[in-house]
Amino acid sequence: MKTDTPVTIRRSDYAPPAFLVDTVELDFSLDPAATTVRARLALRRNPEAAPDAPLRLDGEGLALLEARLDGAALPPERLEFGADGSLTIQDPPEAGLLETVVRIAPEKNTALSGLYTSGGNFYTQCEAEGFRRITFFPDRPDVMSRYTVTITADRALCPVMLSNGNPDGSGAAEGDRHWVRWVDPHPKPSYLFALVAGDLVNVHDQFTTRSGRLVSLNIWVRRGDEDRCGHAMDSLKRSMTWDEEVFGLEYDLDVFNIAAVSDFNMGAMENKGLNVFNTKYVLASPESATDGDWQGIETVIAHEYFHNWTGNRVTCRDWFQLSLKEGLTVFRDQEFSADMGSRAVKRIRDVRGLRAAQFPEDAGPMAHPVRPDSYIEIDNFYTPTVYQKGAEVVRLIHTRIGPAAFRKGMDLYIARNDNQAVTIEDFVAALQDASGVDLSAFMGWYDQAGTPELAAADRYDPATRRYTLTLRQRMPPTPGQPRKHPLPIPVAMGLLGPDGAELPTRLEGENAVQAGTRTLLLDQAEQSFTFEEVPAPPVPSLLRGFSAPVRLKGVPRDRLRFLAVHDTDPFVRWESGQQYAASVMLEMVAAQQRGEAPGFDEALAEAVSNTLAAAEADPAFAAEALLLPGEGFLADQMEVADPVAIHRVRRHLRAEIGRRCGAALRQAYGALADTGPYRIDGRSIGRRALRNACLAYLAAAGDAALAKAQFDSAGNMTDSLAALSLLADTDGEAREGALAAFHARWRGDDLVLDKWFSIQAMAARPDVIQAVRALYAHPDFDLRNPNRARSLIGAFASGNPAQFHDASGEGYRFLADAVIALDLINGSMAARLVGPLGQWRRQSAERGALMRRELQRVLDTPNLSKGTFEKASKALA
Ligand code: ARG
Ligand code: ZN
Repeated sequence: MKTDTPVTIRRSDYAPPAFLVDTVELDFSLDPAATTVRARLALRRNPEAAPDAPLRLDGEGLALLEARLDGAALPPERLEFGADGSLTIQDPPEAGLLETVVRIAPEKNTALSGLYTSGGNFYTQCEAEGFRRITFFPDRPDVMSRYTVTITADRALCPVMLSNGNPDGSGAAEGDRHWVRWVDPHPKPSYLFALVAGDLVNVHDQFTTRSGRLVSLNIWVRRGDEDRCGHAMDSLKRSMTWDEEVFGLEYDLDVFNIAAVSDFNMGAMENKGLNVFNTKYVLASPESATDGDWQGIETVIAHEYFHNWTGNRVTCRDWFQLSLKEGLTVFRDQEFSADMGSRAVKRIRDVRGLRAAQFPEDAGPMAHPVRPDSYIEIDNFYTPTVYQKGAEVVRLIHTRIGPAAFRKGMDLYIARNDNQAVTIEDFVAALQDASGVDLSAFMGWYDQAGTPELAAADRYDPATRRYTLTLRQRMPPTPGQPRKHPLPIPVAMGLLGPDGAELPTRLEGENAVQAGTRTLLLDQAEQSFTFEEVPAPPVPSLLRGFSAPVRLKGVPRDRLRFLAVHDTDPFVRWESGQQYAASVMLEMVAAQQRGEAPGFDEALAEAVSNTLAAAEADPAFAAEALLLPGEGFLADQMEVADPVAIHRVRRHLRAEIGRRCGAALRQAYGALADTGPYRIDGRSIGRRALRNACLAYLAAAGDAALAKAQFDSAGNMTDSLAALSLLADTDGEAREGALAAFHARWRGDDLVLDKWFSIQAMAARPDVIQAVRALYAHPDFDLRNPNRARSLIGAFASGNPAQFHDASGEGYRFLADAVIALDLINGSMAARLVGPLGQWRRQSAERGALMRRELQRVLDTPNLSKGTFEKASKALA
């Protein structure tokens, strides 16, 4: 929707819906250019709303053909159309059957919200506010209705026609058309409605639930993609089993359909009984998908399936409660993936992701609480804060009350709130009531934006053998929240003796010692914890498993080195190595800024050698430990970032390590070569990750031949792409040849071609901006396809900080040009991509001025979408 004065929606303004809709019948007559939608809504006034509240139905871009109330046509004077496309019925009855017929044009819908076409097939995306682009309706999650959907279409164009729930009949219609009916017995909000129709084929399987329900499982794809659905289907069945075993939650319909579409704004959508997925999270073959893609599919399939209970059966009262379903469901998918593979490695990856995306968001202009207070465009709040930090907050409570009480609390949450639209208070109340633990202070995590900083000081008294640990928390202000109060921070910890052995601990006042990790609860600005009978000055290991989403600051380097080697907690071992490297690298950046020659810290090379020597035990963990902290992570720790200096330092360091550890790296690289057939299991994935980490160091040290050899002989996408991304950073024939060969081989596969665009957009080369502009004009580039837009524009602006922040400002100009062009097509995608320009406060004054200029240019564009307006105006505020 285009508007000049976008309205801010506030959480404090919530009012219950004026009318409820108990049942909905929808009749679709599908046609790409002119689809008609007949809707019959059984309406009644909500006893909980104001008695005179108007009957207002949301709508957007709908051409109304008919409107009847209880069978009688509504005269024009009783219909009032709002500037936003809504429809208000004057003198509404207390209850009645409202029937409307509207016409829409799916093939013209480039925003991919509502009903649209992709490759000639029909798909819907309704979350958050897309249903109003299909029919007039109170399009808000606290209006839950039972749906009956009849779809009619040309038999040849749409042999397959799907909607939510269970199938309920089909037959022939006029001419070459046919119809099917779907009935969803479960009441649901409109955002969970879905329709998919077209020339699709299915991969079929089945699952019997614990209580004996036989469920038909189907993945619907375009002809030719059937043989790439096996992993998605396996992941689905594993998710169904896991949710029964871990949460006691069973599937509740006779069919579970998944449809994959290549034009999709997001990853996937949990529509009741008919999930719609971006093809990226369904289709995979060993030749075409990387190990990362493989893991992404498992996670996203699980995530959407888990929504069936956390989101669908129990849904959100309003969109401010979004994390009620998203934070909780991410927590559930994280736990699932941890159970399917290595828990430690999964945790490391999740924390890496949180720091790369959520910490910067919390430190930038769009910082918002996990439960936001206001929004202009709700689409802008499907954020790392709502999802990933939301999951961390659920984890905090899980840690605080323990797994058994958490499970009891989840049971209670679902029993109390089934088939209702509820709030985050309802969730926390269930966990509190089931555990008997007062969780009121944890609400602060939902209400306060920003990342707390945690610092520790300690003192050992040899005379009394007492050890006192003092923890402090501090939170910097965020937009709209100048003052913060302390939050409850569970600090999982242990003490290590001078020899590196874990010490049993006993806190002052306790009668018995405790072995292993224990959790301290810091809920004041500062608190001291005294341990008794500590034999020698210990080294504290803090925040084990990353027990809270905070920044632990000021751990001295000697302790980081000690912990990286000795700690019993794999997360802290990894983390200490990363923090050590980060501290060295930030010092190198400072030296570089002073114009000094970069030094080298021998300890880093030593750590690489040690990691390689011990890698056999857990190659996936070793691969994580080998990676140097990312450029974004380093920038996020600087008052004023210097992306170019950071990039130089990281490159220099990688080359130095590659040279100094060359023999060990080469040896490991050779030893890790895949001998047997290609396999996708945790260990094989870990070995490939480790081998490619070795290759990257060797390439950084100048050995492009090895990368070339790997590219030429690779039998899987992981190895091929790892080599290609290294070659893309080099000069000369090997680079051009490899890129051309890759394009020639994969030009027919959109998902792989996306990778080809991304690799070039993220290359560490001085001419990248020109290359990106040329790719933007490439015949295979298509701004209308979200995956392709992300693969070039998003990859460049978010994945190539040194080039994006080039002092010329050309990177910023390119992004603004692309955002302005995209906003006309798909405002939600444009709003998503404009983000990196908002980080100008963290850049130098010169860069900041250039970034602001481009933001202003975006903001000055006529008819800007609400979403892009919100992002650009908040960034400039
Ligand atoms: N609920 C979906 C998921 O997390 C995401 C849908 C987001 N849609 C949007 N328009 N932002 O799985
Ligand atoms: Zn979700």
